Amino acid sequence: MLTVLDKTFVPFIDHETLQNRIAELAHQINRDYAGRRPLIVGVLNGAVLFTADLLKNLTIDCEITFIRVASYEQTASTGQVKQILGLTEAVEGRDLIVVEDIVDTGLTIVEVYRLLMAQKPASVAIATLLFKPAALQTPMHLEYIGFSIENKFVVGYGLDYNGLGRNTKDIYVLKES
Ligand code: XMP
Ligand code: MG
Repeated sequence: MLTVLDKTFVPFIDHETLQNRIAELAHQINRDYAGRRPLIVGVLNGAVLFTADLLKNLTIDCEITFIRVASYEQTASTGQVKQILGLTEAVEGRDLIVVEDIVDTGLTIVEVYRLLMAQKPASVAIATLLFKPAALQTPMHLEYIGFSIENKFVVGYGLDYNGLGRNTKDIYVLKES
């Protein structure tokens, strides 16, 4: 059990399961991007741990950068996405791999995709650790999905509830009351 502020969470995906799946995703990326030099674009804050663990398993030449967007209030998406910290490197003509913690309604990733495409990269692929298919509001192609999960609120391993709960090795799900 994990208590974050006023909410109780129960274990959902443990550390070992996460690490095994992340190694598999990295393996696919190593294969798909062999001979290329992608720019990995981690989406702060939530994807910080996933990005780090993915990177440790990449054997191809790659560069890493981060962007920061915010959209989420408490445990429901507001649908408003603002870019707080943008890219400083030139992405024109580059192969980008966007690394996200979770695609829920999809509003954030659609907006990130739009912002990046405006800078004319050669390609943009999305790698998300978690995906809630039942919550998706706009169709969006996700090249690399760690786990498809039910439409329930999760925390841990980078994911937060009102800023807290990011610093765990496992992922937890909101306890049914
Ligand atoms: P959308 O709805 O735009 O959401 O796809 C994307 C962003 O919202 C955050 N998010 C969550 N954070 N538990 C969290 O801790 C969740 O269940 C959850 N669902 C969405 C997350 O930052 C993601 O990038
Ligand atoms: Mg996020």
